Amino acid sequence: MNSEEIIKDEKNYFINTFLRQPIVLDHGKGLKVVDIEGNEYLDFFSGIAVNVLGHCYPKLVESIKKQAEKLIHISNIYYNVPAVEFAKKLINLTSFDKIFYSNSGAESNEGAIKLAIKYTGKSEIISTTNSFHGRTLLTLAATGQDKYKEPYIKNLPQGFKEVPYNDIEALKEAITDQTAAIIVEPIQGEGGVNVPDPDYLPQIEKICKENGIIFIIDEVQTGFGRCGKLFAHEIFGVKPDIMTVAKGIGGGVPMGAFLTTNEVAEGFNPGDHGTTFGGSPLVCAAANATLEALIHDDLISNCVNMGKYIKEKLEHIKENHNDIIKDIRGYGLLIGIELTKDGDEYVDKMRKKGFLVNCTAHNVLRLAPPLIVNKNEIDQLIDTLDKIL
Ligand SMILES: Cc1ncc(COP(=O)(O)O)c(C=O)c1O
Repeated sequence: MNSEEIIKDEKNYFINTFLRQPIVLDHGKGLKVVDIEGNEYLDFFSGIAVNVLGHCYPKLVESIKKQAEKLIHISNIYYNVPAVEFAKKLINLTSFDKIFYSNSGAESNEGAIKLAIKYTGKSEIISTTNSFHGRTLLTLAATGQDKYKEPYIKNLPQGFKEVPYNDIEALKEAITDQTAAIIVEPIQGEGGVNVPDPDYLPQIEKICKENGIIFIIDEVQTGFGRCGKLFAHEIFGVKPDIMTVAKGIGGGVPMGAFLTTNEVAEGFNPGDHGTTFGGSPLVCAAANATLEALIHDDLISNCVNMGKYIKEKLEHIKENHNDIIKDIRGYGLLIGIELTKDGDEYVDKMRKKGFLVNCTAHNVLRLAPPLIVNKNEIDQLIDTLDKIL
C-alpha cells in the first residue's frame, strides 16, 4: 500500500480527532525517520517531545526486546523487578520519596489532583491560563485553554480556577481556605513555550508552604532532560510536593508517573487509586534503559550544549528575518520561535524539505528534538529554516 491508500483507509476507519501531517512513517534511527515511500526526515519534534533518545536507540531496543521475551504484563496485583528498580533509581535522583505509575500525562495529572484533594481534604484546584494538563474531564478542567473545554463545559468537574501564568498576585487573590492544590508547568509547552520569571515558581512554593496547599509541578513535557536538567523545576530551585511525568520517561513507550513526599503519599490508602497497566515490567524496563542512557551517555549535557547552539543560530537568522521572527525562547531542547504570523505554513514547508517541526499556540514554532541531536543536524535545520523564512 502507498501513503495515499493508507491515509484514505485511516479516514474511513478512525474517529476523526487528529490533524495529521500527510506522511506515513515506517522506520527510524537517531533523528532520522523514513516514510513508506523512502523519503527521509530529520525529526525535530520527537513524537511531541517524547523520544528523548531519538528513534530506536540501541540500548533501549535491546532492553525492550529482552524484557518482552521474559514477561510483559502482570498487573499491580503482583510485584515486578524493573518497576522497583526504576522507582529506586528515579527517587534517588529527585527530592521525592514515593511513586505511582500511570500510562500517560493526563492520567498522571488526574492521579496527582486526586491525591492532593484526598490529602488536604479540600476541594479547590488553581491552574494557569494557557496551561495544558490533559484531555480527561478532570485534567481538561485544569487546562487553561477554552478551545479544548468548550464542548464539555457542562460536564467538567467543579472546583477549578484559572489565573494568568506568571502572575503571582493573581494567584494570591485566588487562594481560599478550600484551596487544595496549585498545578503549574515549569515552562508551558503546548501554550507556546512560555518561560516564567525566575522567582515565579519559588514564590508559588512559598505561598503553598504558608497556606498548606499542595504544589503540583507538571513535568510531562519538560521532564527527563528536555530542558537541560533532569527536571525543569530544578532550574528554578524549587521542591514541589507532587511531580507528574510521562512523555520522555520510557523513551517512547506509553508510560507516566507521579511522585510525591512520604507525607503527602499518606493521603492515599489501598483502593483509593489504581490502574491495570501502570508500571508493567515492559515499560519499566524501557524506563530503566532510558534513564541509564540519559545519565551515563551524558545526554543531558548534550542537551544543554545543543540547546545553546541552536538558540545562537536562531538569534542569528532572526537578524535576517525580524519581520517574521518575534521572539526565541525556551530552555535546553524545548525551544519556541514566536512568529508575527500563523506558523502552520512553515511546518508544511519544513516537512516538504525533510524536517519535522511543530507549531503551537498558532504562531509559535516548537522544536523538541531528541537529546542526541548534533551540530550537523542543527545546521541543516537552520539552513533550511533560514531559506524558508
Ligand atoms: C504539560 C503536559 N501535561 C499533560 C499532557 C498530557 O499528556 P498525555 O497526552 O500523555 O495525556 C501534556 C501533553 O502534551 C503536556 O504537555
